Amino acid sequence: MVQLTLPKNSTIKTGSIRNKPDPARRSAFREFRIYRWNPDTDENPHVDTYYVDLEKCGPMVLDGIIKIKNEIDPTLTFRRSCREGICGSCAMNVDGTNTLACTKPLEDIKGTVKIYPLPHTPVIKDLVPDLTQFYAQHRSIEPWLKTDSAEPEKEWKQSRDDREKLDGLYECILCACCSTSCPSYWWNSDRYLGPAVLLQAYRWIVDSRDEATGERLDNLEDPFRLYRCHTIMNCAKACPKGLNPAKAIAGIKKKLVERRF
Ligand code: SF4
Ligand code: SF4
Ligand code: FES
Repeated sequence: MVQLTLPKNSTIKTGSIRNKPDPARRSAFREFRIYRWNPDTDENPHVDTYYVDLEKCGPMVLDGIIKIKNEIDPTLTFRRSCREGICGSCAMNVDGTNTLACTKPLEDIKGTVKIYPLPHTPVIKDLVPDLTQFYAQHRSIEPWLKTDSAEPEKEWKQSRDDREKLDGLYECILCACCSTSCPSYWWNSDRYLGPAVLLQAYRWIVDSRDEATGERLDNLEDPFRLYRCHTIMNCAKACPKGLNPAKAIAGIKKKLVERRF
């Protein structure tokens, strides 16, 4: 029989149980099971169980984990900032789906709330993913206005119609929920740019004020950077802002075909 050696720390163990309520009050509490991993110890990751009194907790998943950190276990580590679905830092896998913890209502989850870091990313600690590569890929598409014309006196103007072409693109908060739910990105994240970064690339390609469209398309015309998208559509399903990165990717492919004629 073939014997496989699992990578170090790949087995997730059962962890501790904290704040378990009296049976009489159990129905007022919600059980949270949260992935934990501390790089400063030699231990494998584990899943800790916490019970949160819903009568004393805000309505969102983020409220639950802030309450756990504040009142039950200060060692629990996660990112959050705006609490409004704007900064993208609280992206995590909740109940099997990548989402923003601050905009995910607890009442939408049946039973135990299971929380893991964004999948297929290295973990820094607990629920904090290492997005270094993701940000480097974002930088590689040069996400800023590029122009050759003389600077206008006041501002680069845009017609209302041209501005509308950015709808569905400018709202992206770079939370990485889409890229980390994309199977093509899981297997080729070192070479495929992934849905979030490609949506951002398209946002600059269709910006009427930008004068580097050809250069931007040249940068993407590559079997790995762009063409690893196989239209599986997980990205559109995962986006907590309701955006459709697959449509943006199709837009880039269309522009590449059009410029050949
Ligand atoms: S449509 Fe493309 S980018 Fe979106 S999940 Fe599928 S392969 Fe990934
Ligand atoms: S497209 Fe949606 S899921 Fe992807 S990074 Fe932007 S906001 Fe997040
Ligand atoms: S805390 Fe900013 S998006 Fe959730």
